[in-house]
Amino acid sequence: GHFWLRGRHPDQPVSFDAATGMWNVFGHPEALRILGDPKTFSSDTGRLVPSLETGREGMLTQMDPPAHGKLRKLVSHAFTPKVVADLEPRIAELTRELLDEVADPDRLELVTDLAYPLPVIVIAELLGVPGSDRHLFKQWVDKMFENTQQFSLVNESEEQERSVAVAMEQFKHLADYIGEHADDRRRHPRADLLTKLVEAEVDGERLTQAEVVNFANILLVAGHITTTMLLGNTVLCLDAHPGQLARTREDRSTIPAVIEESLRFFSPFAALGRVTNTDVELGGQRIPADRLLMVWIAAANRDPREFADPDVFDPSRVPNPHLGFGRGIHFCIGAPLARLEGRVALDILLDRFPHLRTDPDEPPQFIPSPNMTGVRRLPLLTSGS
Ligand code: HEM
Repeated sequence: GHFWLRGRHPDQPVSFDAATGMWNVFGHPEALRILGDPKTFSSDTGRLVPSLETGREGMLTQMDPPAHGKLRKLVSHAFTPKVVADLEPRIAELTRELLDEVADPDRLELVTDLAYPLPVIVIAELLGVPGSDRHLFKQWVDKMFENTQQFSLVNESEEQERSVAVAMEQFKHLADYIGEHADDRRRHPRADLLTKLVEAEVDGERLTQAEVVNFANILLVAGHITTTMLLGNTVLCLDAHPGQLARTREDRSTIPAVIEESLRFFSPFAALGRVTNTDVELGGQRIPADRLLMVWIAAANRDPREFADPDVFDPSRVPNPHLGFGRGIHFCIGAPLARLEGRVALDILLDRFPHLRTDPDEPPQFIPSPNMTGVRRLPLLTSGS
C-alpha cells in the first residue's frame, strides 16, 4: 500500500505531519492552486536543506521566476517538439533491437529488457553521449536514488547527512562526465542536443557551463526512471484489466488515452516539493512561511471531487486533467518524449506478444520509495497460455 493512498482523506486535503515536519497536500484543487502560484509556493526546496545548497545553478526544477523562465526559454530552444518527434523511428528501432536480444522465447523481464535501457539510450543519444556508457550512469543514478530516500527535516541525523553527501557525490560524477563532453562540443560542435545547449542563445544570452551541465544531468536522471516507471505501470494496468487490454490491442489509436490514464492511476512521481514564501491559508489550514509542502499529485489524481470513480482505471475519461506531469511553469519538459516512448514501445510490445501477461509465480517488485510509483522488476510471460 502506498502512503498517499492511506494518508489521503477527502475531508482533509491538507494536513501537517509532525514526524517529518512537512505539510501534506492531497487534494486536486489545492494542488492546482499551489502549482499555479509559484510566487507564494517556491520550488527552491533546497533553501530549507543547507546540505543540498551547493551546485544548483541551472537546476530548472528548483528555480523560481524570473530566473526559471529565462533558463526554460533557453533550453526549450534546444529541446523542441520537432527534436522529439524526429526520434520516433529511432525509438521504434531501439525497441525492436532490445526485444530481439531477449534470450528466453517464453518470458521477458520488462524493466531490464526494455523499460530501463530504452529511455536511457534515447536520452544519451539525443544529448550526444555514448549509449554504451549507460552502465556508468546507472551506477551513479541508482546510488543517488538509494541515498535520497525517506528524507526528514526533523530527524537531521548523521546517517541522513552521510546519505546526502553520497548522493551529491554521485551527482558530481555525472556532472564531471557531462562537463567533459560539453567542453568538447564548444570546440567541436556536432549535431546533438549538448551542442544545441552550448550554442542556444535568447536575447543575446547563453547558458553557462554549470547550467548546461545541470540541465543535461536532469535529462539523464529523468531519462532513467520516469519512462521506465510509465511503461511498467501501463503494462500492469492493462494486465489487471483484460477487457481494456483487448480493446487496446484491437485499436491502437487508444494507446495515448491508456498512457494518460496510467499516469493518473499510478503517477510515477507521487509527490512534488514546494516551500511557502509567506503565511498562507490552504484547504482550511493556516501554513506559516518557510514550510515544506509535499504536493501528493498521486493522491490529487484520485480526488473524488475531480474524478468520478477515481480508483477505477478508465482510459475513456475525457478530459483527464491528471497532474502526473505537474502543471504550470514547471510542467514536465520531457512529457512529449515520455508520451512518445510510451506509445511506440507499447505498440511494439502488443505486436510482438499476443499473449503478454504477468507471471503468477513471479510477482512484480515495486521501487521501495513512498515518493515513486513504479516497478523495478516486472517478469512477464510471452508465449501462448
Ligand atoms: C518536470 C514528471 C519524463 C524532464 C516534471 C514534473 C513532473 C514530471 C511531475 C514537474 C516537477 C515540479 O513541478 O516540481 C515526469 C513523468 C515522466 C517524465 C511522470 C515520465 C512518465 C521526463 C523526461 C524528461 C523530463 C523523459 C527529459 C528527458 C523534466 C524536466 C523538468 C520536469 C527538465 C523540469 C521542468 C521545469 O522545472 O521547468 N516532470 N517527467 N521528464 N521533467 Fe519530467
